Amino acid sequence: MTAPDLTVRIGSMTMKNPVMIASGIFGYGDEFRGLADYGALGALVLKTITPQPRAGNPPAHRTVETSGGMLNAIGLENVGLEAFIREKLPLALEYGTNIVASIAGDTADDFAHCARALDASDVAAIEINISCPNVKQGGMAFGIHAEASAEVTAAVRAATRKPVISKLTPNVTDIAAVAVACERAGADAVSLINTFSAMAIDVETRRPLLAAGAGGLSGPAIRPAAVYRVHQVAQAVSIPVVGMGGIWNANDALEFIIAGASAVAVGTALYADPAAANRVLSGIRDYLDRHAIDGIAHLVGSLKL
Ligand SMILES: Cc1cc2nc3c(=O)[nH]c(=O)nc-3n(C[C@H](O)[C@H](O)[C@H](O)COP(=O)(O)O)c2cc1C
Repeated sequence: MTAPDLTVRIGSMTMKNPVMIASGIFGYGDEFRGLADYGALGALVLKTITPQPRAGNPPAHRTVETSGGMLNAIGLENVGLEAFIREKLPLALEYGTNIVASIAGDTADDFAHCARALDASDVAAIEINISCPNVKQGGMAFGIHAEASAEVTAAVRAATRKPVISKLTPNVTDIAAVAVACERAGADAVSLINTFSAMAIDVETRRPLLAAGAGGLSGPAIRPAAVYRVHQVAQAVSIPVVGMGGIWNANDALEFIIAGASAVAVGTALYADPAAANRVLSGIRDYLDRHAIDGIAHLVGSLKL
């Protein structure tokens, strides 16, 4: 049998396989260089950038481990749009696979400004972060409302010809409604889920363990909740869905694909194993071989109910 076809398309971006790295895990790619063959993956989504640089939240503590996961409240620390395009992007492009920029801002105009500047760059696609729980303005404040999510998506759509991916928050009652609003506003894909708003407390001091008080929960603890949301969204939209949330191995990724994800992103697992996404990819290949499935597309949304 010939090798299964793993190709995935999101607008004009063609990925050689469905495995991506999730935004924020990998920085701009600098820190992880040499730890695994990231160029073998379908796409690398870099840390969210904003029009101006941001310092983020106080360093102690921005992350804390919890059962089956972690909390983070980085607060969108980033180098800003200009330094990203000038210094970070050229290095990331050396990985030799699709580089996706993730953008955020306080207003829809901020998002459009970033998208316009990136339109002339070599990023393969733009992910719109309307789902960060760790900033006071912007971020999830857009993503919890279908209309505001659509407004930001439309502003970015008008500012670039690059494929646009709207990244959704699970901190809503009806994530499918937000996904549909983004699709109607011109998104080429939706990605989900960003982290769940969450808190952990030191009972001795009675203080939150995170300096910011609350943060976002990621890792295996959120996986079944993420799989369900991908299932709900995939039934509501006809654009591709990128699934993520606690993917640790190929079996986890396959759950998302069978639930309806055309591609998957690996996040927190990279902190335990920098080669986690590569392991996921080879496990998906093995599964397709073992089940004599000749293309990943045949598996997407193949859930039997
Ligand atoms: C330390 C950390 C930083 C993150 N930063 C971002 C970010 O800048 N932009 C974004 O869209 N998502 C960010 N995320 C969310 C992840 O991209 C992903 O949606 C989430 O963690 C769920 O996947 P996982 O359980 O595999 O990590 C971050 C997650 C973590 C743990």
